[in-house]
Amino acid sequence: MVDYKIRAATATDGEAMLALMPRLSAFEIPESRTPEHLWLDDAKLLREWICGGADDCFVHIAEDDVGAILGLTLVRLRPEPLSHEPSAHLEAIAVAKGAEGRGIGQALLGAAEENAHKQGAQTMTLHVFSTNTRARQFYERSGYDGEVIRYIKPLAD
Ligand SMILES: CC(C)(COP(=O)(O)OP(=O)(O)OC[C@H]1O[C@@H](n2cnc3c(N)ncnc32)[C@H](O)[C@@H]1OP(=O)(O)O)[C@@H](O)C(=O)NCCC(=O)NCCS
Repeated sequence: MVDYKIRAATATDGEAMLALMPRLSAFEIPESRTPEHLWLDDAKLLREWICGGADDCFVHIAEDDVGAILGLTLVRLRPEPLSHEPSAHLEAIAVAKGAEGRGIGQALLGAAEENAHKQGAQTMTLHVFSTNTRARQFYERSGYDGEVIRYIKPLAD
């Protein structure tokens, strides 16, 4: 039974959406990172959108029957970096802890893809940490191929 709905977000959803952003660090994060590294920039972009900026972005939320926000996606329309074709980038997807595993992530991602395609995007891209196994499985089940692996090394004196 589906007991939530997906809709386009509005600025009035602002604080409840921002409260979900720390969920972006809800996995085994690399030792060299703090949890805030993983979500502060996305929260900044979301806040900009809430305040009427970032007009190349769109946001969807999942809400339950009493209006509680269970999840969100934040997508930016931008050219695909290599082909330069119209594309969309999934900046953030987060589902509230108690609401995982009910299909909300899939429904949110589907709505984001549909809207991006309607606006001309040929592809959707995203970045995911290699240690975020739950999210990686979720993306792979949703038809995404891992394409680039980014390496990082601390440069000591
Ligand atoms: C990754 C994330 C968005 C997935 O969201 P989710 O709502 O749990 O995802 P779904 O429910 O759609 O899919 C997960 C599971 O539910 C199952 N499911 C799908 N539809 C379902 C339904 N209608 N009823 C019950 N279960 C369902 C899926 O098959 C899947 O099960 P499996 O893991 O056993 O294969 C969520 O775990 C999350 O917010 N993680 C923290 C933030 C994060 O890491 N974001 C990604 C950053 S790159």
